[in-house]
Amino acid sequence: MGATNIKRIGILTGGGDCPGLNAVIRAVTKCAIYRHGLEVFGIEDGFLGLVQNRIHRLEAADVSNILTLGGTILGTNNKCDPTRYPVKTDGQVRIQDVTDRVMDHIEQRKIDALIVIGGDGTMTVASHFVKKGLNCIGVPKTIDNDLEGTDITFGFATARYVATMALDRIHTTAASHHRAMLVEVMGRHAGWIALHAGVASGADVILLPEIPFDIDKVCDAVTSRSRHGKRFSIICVSEGAKPVDGEQVVDRVDPTSADPIRLGGVSRVVGDQIEKRTGIETRTTVLGHVQRGGTPVPEDRVLATEFGHAAIRVLMEGKQSRLIAMKGRTVTDADLLIAADKQRLVSPDHPLVIAARDIGTSFGD
Ligand code: F6P
Repeated sequence: MGATNIKRIGILTGGGDCPGLNAVIRAVTKCAIYRHGLEVFGIEDGFLGLVQNRIHRLEAADVSNILTLGGTILGTNNKCDPTRYPVKTDGQVRIQDVTDRVMDHIEQRKIDALIVIGGDGTMTVASHFVKKGLNCIGVPKTIDNDLEGTDITFGFATARYVATMALDRIHTTAASHHRAMLVEVMGRHAGWIALHAGVASGADVILLPEIPFDIDKVCDAVTSRSRHGKRFSIICVSEGAKPVDGEQVVDRVDPTSADPIRLGGVSRVVGDQIEKRTGIETRTTVLGHVQRGGTPVPEDRVLATEFGHAAIRVLMEGKQSRLIAMKGRTVTDADLLIAADKQRLVSPDHPLVIAARDIGTSFGD
């Protein structure tokens, strides 16, 4: 479809909630209505709303006053994939492909294109509809910052800020009580939050999924600080961190999710080992969803606004199936499929890893 033929667009948020989602919804909706006179339809709960036909008109007034609001006014879902949808027939649940049902719902509303705000899972689902001829424009979201195709995702800055503040606050107790204190942050298989928050707060040890740790080296870092008169240590642990010869710690398995593994708990295991081996009193804090909730920091509000605006610009330029991306300091766009089912991990020789090592930070390796 050419740019001038676009009259109606749909917008959905998929995957986990993330600070800045509402800022994108606001920018997309206002730009679509004010600048281009489009009709906008909000889809409830991600792709689930498309399957269940829960779609409603969004007016500019509906997105007023949501810039600073955490979560998503549309609701989200991190389980629904219409190519593998559980349908109950004859008392039995069978997995079916309901993408044609979704396409019917889109055609009923005469929706010409979809703005899809999400991470790699959401872009994977969007790619099925791209193959069916639907123009989807992706907006890269995730606190993990692990989406391929863009240098940065919105939500990351807020999570990094929350994690840094937590590490800063832990510092005072660690110093006063002469303890080793561990803070576990999110990030799944990518260590971006741990690396950035660890560096920002001056953590003594940073454990990342991409650099397997040796517990002896972690303990050495703690005891060597003690020997040099620093009677406390701050350890920033990514939830995906794992020992050289071991596995990640799984908190739960959700069989209804396309990505069933939920990580969590590695800091407790590491903390117990540090206390046992060094004799230094140790405490652990797992930050969890605190990093994903609440109002976005200004950086994320700005990025979300730029991304939302770019999504409409790219669509009205007549481009098909693009991912809005930040490359360097420029907002640009890439092939949407580049972000499907892939993760952008921290390279062990990333300049920030090298800088941290050179100022004495241990990565436990
Ligand atoms: O991808 C975002 C994220 O918060 C990860 O950092 C974390 O591992 C996961 O989602 C938690 O998922 P859930 O909200 O389903 O527990």
